[in-house]
Amino acid sequence: MPVLPSEGRRIALIGKGGAGKSTTLAQCLAYWSSYGVPCIGIDTDIPGDDEHGTLYEHAQLVDLGAPVYPAPAIHQIRNEAIRLTPEKGLGALDTGAWERKAGGPHIAVLSSVDLAVLCMQPTRNELNRAASVLGAIQQLEATGAHAPQLVILLSMVDRSAASADDMDVTLSEAGYTVLRSRFHLSNGRDGLAQSFGEPVRVKEDSEMDVLARELLDVVAR
Ligand SMILES: Nc1ncnc2c1ncn2[C@@H]1O[C@H](COP(=O)(O)OP(=O)(O)OP(=O)(O)O)[C@@H](O)[C@H]1O
Ligand SMILES: [Mg+2]
Repeated sequence: MPVLPSEGRRIALIGKGGAGKSTTLAQCLAYWSSYGVPCIGIDTDIPGDDEHGTLYEHAQLVDLGAPVYPAPAIHQIRNEAIRLTPEKGLGALDTGAWERKAGGPHIAVLSSVDLAVLCMQPTRNELNRAASVLGAIQQLEATGAHAPQLVILLSMVDRSAASADDMDVTLSEAGYTVLRSRFHLSNGRDGLAQSFGEPVRVKEDSEMDVLARELLDVVAR
């Protein structure tokens, strides 16, 4: 298990609506805590009338093994993320649908974390989104603000399609770092599609186990 620095590390999942961010983070929190990594979640996606299934709601329904805090005010996100991240542990920030807006929560989240994980479906359309996130990070760097490392998690991947392999090559050639792990479509009765509000079943060598470990390795570097 990689050792995290005493001040801990922070990670954010970003991406378009429905990319699987909250599901992935709920699972990862349960896996990380099962490894003995102290971790917390912060949900920066504010639930509204049309918005259900947030990480915070999930953590209200079942024990994810780690506390999940509701969204701080935008200007407090960075301070709260630093304050709440456990010693030698992981602070994980969930976000709503990606929006590159000055003064918005996503830019505040990017300036608060060491690693931004862009959850991205392997379609041509999504390349623009990757460029938008990279642009926001480069803009932070240009202003001297803290900026995270960016990695891409191919998500909602159809196991039977070749599109993810093609997208992996395209993204890598464009200079992006693509995680080895993928988040596959899982529509069965016991699949991740139905996992909201259910306790996480931690299973060794499962796709989530491998993903949770890869994320830990990357953020610890
Ligand atoms: N592996 C999967 N296969 C199929 N469906 C899934 C999978 N994981 C999650 N889902 C379903 O897809 C929908 C979107 O997932 P989720 O809420 O995690 O996405 P999100 O990126 O957090 O969305 P939002 O931006 O709205 O917060 C949910 O209905 C969820 O139950
Ligand atoms: Mg969500």
